Amino acid sequence: MATIRLGDKAPDFTADSSVGTINLYDYLGDGWGILFSHPADFTPVCTTELGTAAKFKDEFDKRNVKMLALSVDGASSHNEWIKDINEVQNTTVNFPIIADEDKKVSDLYDMIHPNADNNLTVRSVFIIAPDKTVKLIITYPASTGRNFYELLRVIDSLQLTAYHKVATPANWKQGESVVVSPAISTEDAKEMFKKGVEEVKPYLRMTPDPTA
Ligand code: BEZ
Repeated sequence: MATIRLGDKAPDFTADSSVGTINLYDYLGDGWGILFSHPADFTPVCTTELGTAAKFKDEFDKRNVKMLALSVDGASSHNEWIKDINEVQNTTVNFPIIADEDKKVSDLYDMIHPNADNNLTVRSVFIIAPDKTVKLIITYPASTGRNFYELLRVIDSLQLTAYHKVATPANWKQGESVVVSPAISTEDAKEMFKKGVEEVKPYLRMTPDPTA
């Protein structure tokens, strides 16, 4: 098991899933990806999470992000559980769930934290850019369901900052003002950002969201 850090290449893998064999890189193509693990099938928080993820698919699609879930249960278990998720969450699970029974992918991505649970994956999130580098890692415990609005928010930030020389401040949401990258002088920033630059401090310069 190797530690994965921001900026590393996401390890590629081929694994069984609820929709058959999947290769990560082929599945992602040249778009973005979110790989997220959950502890186990037929568990309450996971049922709400996967149903919520399915309802958010349009939002992930708009951002060119493909979803890929994972647990160490088998594909037939996933497919039985998906029927329950669809029923109780009033949705249709519309993304694959990796069936990582041999824990190959969990080990590759360090998704099992033995001091939390020896056998089950924690709630890991990896956001992978089109160049296959890892842009974001978040880990939640089994007892805390993820906030999918937050996942969309960080994807908006990652996609904005990948293409513009800006960063996003605390609690930023799409359309709000952003921070000019510290590497750019205020003089250059005024040339670059035609919507205007406010110099709050020499190191804190704000400009309207360049994409809004
Ligand atoms: C859940 O999804 O509810 C869950 C799964 C494993 C441990 C605790 C909660």
